[in-house]
Amino acid sequence: MVTGDDDEVGAADVGLGDHGLQDREHAVDVGQHRHASRRRPPCRRTLSRRATVGPAGNRLSVPRRGRYGSRMPAAEDYFGDEVAATYDDAESEMFDAAVVGPTVDLIAELAGGGAALELGVGTGRIALPLAARGVPVHGTDLSAAMLALLLAKPGGDTVGATLGDLSTTRVEGRFAVVYLVFNTIMNLTTQDAQVACFANAADHLEPGGAFVVEVMVPDLQRLPPGQDVVPFHVGETSWAFDRYDVVTQAMSSTYVDVAGGEVRFRSTPFRYVWPAELDLMARLAGLRLRDRWDGWTKQPFTSGSRRHVSVWDKPAA
Ligand SMILES: C[S@@+](CC[C@H](N)C(=O)[O-])C[C@H]1O[C@@H](n2cnc3c(N)ncnc32)[C@H](O)[C@@H]1O
Repeated sequence: MVTGDDDEVGAADVGLGDHGLQDREHAVDVGQHRHASRRRPPCRRTLSRRATVGPAGNRLSVPRRGRYGSRMPAAEDYFGDEVAATYDDAESEMFDAAVVGPTVDLIAELAGGGAALELGVGTGRIALPLAARGVPVHGTDLSAAMLALLLAKPGGDTVGATLGDLSTTRVEGRFAVVYLVFNTIMNLTTQDAQVACFANAADHLEPGGAFVVEVMVPDLQRLPPGQDVVPFHVGETSWAFDRYDVVTQAMSSTYVDVAGGEVRFRSTPFRYVWPAELDLMARLAGLRLRDRWDGWTKQPFTSGSRRHVSVWDKPAA
């Protein structure tokens, strides 16, 4: 489906059955993504290798490292089997047709008949309906469990998938649009990784192509001076809050709930990032801001916007 330089990707025989996973010695308990609607069980696993899954079947090949690979520390996989199993949630706003439809519309418009690459493709919430529109789609993701679910879905055989870190992993071919949605840029917890992500996206774009990011605006206006915690859910048996480090831009979302006399505590790390900082990362990667909207239907981005959908262009020549 996607053609390109064979030098980027080598082959290896690895089955999808065990997801190529191994237990990690220093795993931490984690919760759901900040904006997902359901609680996620903790994950104690990570990848043992990176691999590519072709649209045709469940054989994997291991890609060589991209040009940024050797500098980047290994990323933690927070979307293991247990998290993946509950990720798709028909009741979640993010799976609502009113959210997915406009997202797919805009990405298909930007693809303009060309191919699309999704970084952090997950279980295919956007990739599958985009492929169903006839857009050739390839995705990368660190989680073998998420990719296994994607491939098992109807239409999963129409989407190419590569297992690996989205900021460093190279896949074959060049794309008209590369996209990163649902705050996934914040899953990269260092500025270096976010910068590398932009460089990696730019490397995958054909001249004139577009890189699209959907991410929240840092919510620091809700943070009174001297305070570093913002609660976002206060229930009778469950509580959730964000903690901000305004020096490093590290943040975390923490969930505490009580069930059956047991208390569960889960925390997921993120790095919040400013729109202007993203623009600079884009410039470092040779891209230029084309548009910034408040959402997928191109609402104006204003001082009151809580999130943005931004599009950066790769020069045509
Ligand atoms: C919030 S989910 C979004 C999934 C999908 N894009 C969607 O919109 O439903 C974030 C995804 O990014 C993946 N991810 C997080 N950090 C990653 C990394 N460093 N490299 C590759 N994938 C990563 C996770 O495994 C997960 O599938």
